[in-house]
Parts: sequence; structure tokens; C-alpha cells
Amino acid sequence: MQVTWDDYLSISNAHGRFQDCRRRCERSFEHHRANIKCAVEVTKPKTVACLGAGVLSDIPYDAIVRSGASLHLVDWVRGSIDAGVDMSIIHTDEGGTPHCLYCSPTIECPRSFCRRFEPATSDAAVCRSFVPIQGQPMRCGAFERGEQPKVHYQDVTAGYASEFGREILGELRGVSSWKQAFARAAGLVERIGRAAECTAIADSSVDLVTSSMVVSQFDHEPYDYFANRTAEMLGPPTAKEEKQLRPTLASLRRTLLANQVTRHCREIRRILAPGGYCYMSFEMYHRLPEDPHWFLVDGMADALETLGRHFHFNFDIIPRGDSLARFETGDSPSLVCSFMLAPKASE
Ligand SMILES: C[S@@+](CC[C@H](N)C(=O)[O-])C[C@H]1O[C@@H](n2cnc3c(N)ncnc32)[C@H](O)[C@@H]1O
Repeated sequence: MQVTWDDYLSISNAHGRFQDCRRRCERSFEHHRANIKCAVEVTKPKTVACLGAGVLSDIPYDAIVRSGASLHLVDWVRGSIDAGVDMSIIHTDEGGTPHCLYCSPTIECPRSFCRRFEPATSDAAVCRSFVPIQGQPMRCGAFERGEQPKVHYQDVTAGYASEFGREILGELRGVSSWKQAFARAAGLVERIGRAAECTAIADSSVDLVTSSMVVSQFDHEPYDYFANRTAEMLGPPTAKEEKQLRPTLASLRRTLLANQVTRHCREIRRILAPGGYCYMSFEMYHRLPEDPHWFLVDGMADALETLGRHFHFNFDIIPRGDSLARFETGDSPSLVCSFMLAPKASE
């Protein structure tokens, strides 16, 4: 049976995989956490929305919660945000003593974050409900998420990517060649996206939006979902098919990416309050192992143009010198571009 789009976004054996993901990414995303922390300190938002929050490896959760801002966390992978929050609450000091972020005296209303909060009788750094779960990081077995932060398992392209993901299986019914599969996908890309399926965040309600490394992801999904389902039905393309279809593949990927960027921009503009900012980052340059030459990541020049139509760029809020940072995964490094965006008066 084919994996539906909804199944695809529900990860099985989730907690272990989310923990691995967090462990792998935490160090390489450190500079996004520093940049966003700085953006929070400078712009002093009352409401923050983190789009593509995932397991919060790149979100300075502690700093945002302590700032007193109301927080929305959005990601389409179900369970990812809850796992990320779970891993962001307890910190152990050098002596191994656990400290709970929500039980800290600086938090005004701990029960709005954890329904199980019971004030400690002594000056302990955790409340009376605390149940330690050993691990890296330590977690609290009693934790039950309250009404803060607001968690949304939704699409940050106002439904565009999900619509493609949901519809493509039907389009692939009866196809007998990769050429036909690409033609159906290209047709679908043109037809969808008429109606926006926005996130549950109110219009003009957010002072600081973050979109950290999300645009880089648009190059992979939902294209990979389409390619994997097609391979399941037809087997991998032959070398000849692969060569013939290379331009078609590149064009489909580029169109999917460009349409998602446009819809993402519109969603950010919709939720931003007057005077609000968006922190954005994505991989701009890349280098393959054992190749000394860097290249501009496909689609990123167009993405910058699209951003420029919707927003003014600001390189002064986050620390100078942090706008271009090296990002290492394995032996193929990237240069990640980070900046702040302020909406233009009109598109
Ligand atoms: C490279 S990760 C960024 C790191 C992430 N904040 C974390 O710590 O796991 C990009 C995140 O964006 C999410 N994402 C990508 N496209 C999305 C979409 N259209 N709607 C919602 N989330 C999306 C992915 O699920 C992933 O969690």
C-alpha cells in the first residue's frame, strides 16, 4: 500500500528519531539560536511565531519564554514540536542538579506552560511534580503542555506544499513511465494553490516571525515524496530516462520551490503585525566533497528576488558578521545566509 501524504508526515518510533535529530543538529544550529536571541532582545516582541520549528534545535526557547512573549510554534511533522519542547525545559547544572525553565521564579504563570506545575516547598529549581527521566537532555515525566506555547502542526506555505502532497498520489494512478509521471506532476503544480490554507495564527498578530532553514527544505519536499512514490510504482528510472528527464526534473523542482517561497512570503506577511520583523536563514552556497569550488544553491537567486519583492532586507539587527556563516554537515559544507526582513508597504 502506498504511503499517503498524511502518513508521510507522521513519523513512527518518533521520540527516538526526534532525539537523534536534535542531538545531530544542535551544534550546527547554534548560530541561529544566537541570532534569534539577539533579534528578540533588540525587537522586544510581544508575540513570536517560529515557522518550521521542528525539534527546536535552532530556537532559543529559553530566551523567548523568559522574555514573556506569547509564542506560536509551527511545523508539519506531527509530534516534532512537542518532542522539541520536552527536550528544552530541563537543564542540568555542572553539579548535575536539574533546573526547570517553567519552575523558574522569573516565569509569571508556570501553569500556562505546564498543567502539572505545583509550587516547590523549598527553593528547589524544580516543582513538586517533577519526575526525572534520565537522558541527554534530562526530561520531566510529569510535564503536560499548557496553553503556552501554541503548537500548530500545519503547513507554512499556506497549504501549497500539502496540496501537492495530497493530490499527487491520485495523479500518479495508472502512469506507466517516469516521463508520464513528471508530466502529471508538472500539470498538478500549475493547477493547485488557488485557495490559501493559512496557519491558525491570526492576521497581523506577530511581532517577530522566524523562518530558520525552512526555505532550504522547500527544495526537498514535497518533491522527494513524489519521486519516492513514483519509484515505488515504476522502479528507479533507467540511466537513459534519467538523462532525458534531467531538464524536466530540474524545472519541476524549481517551480515547486519558487511557488513555496512565494506562498511562504505571503503567509509571513499575513501574520506580521505593523512594524514587525522576520528572521530568515537558508543555505545560499554549497560545496561538494573533494571539489574546491563553491556554487550558488539552485533556486536561491530566485528566492532572494521573491523576498525582495515582499520585504526590505535588514542586516543591522543581528550581529554584523553573522549574516553569512559556515554550516558543516559531514564533508560537504554550506554557507548559510541570515538576515531580518521588514514587509514592504505593498507587494
Ligand atoms: C531544516 S529544519 C529547521 C530546523 C528545525 N527548526 C529543527 O530544529 O528541527 C526545517 C523544518 O521546517 C519544516 N518544514 C519544511 N517545510 C514545511 C512546511 N511547508 N510547513 C511546515 N513545516 C515545514 C520541517 O519539517 C523541518 O522541521
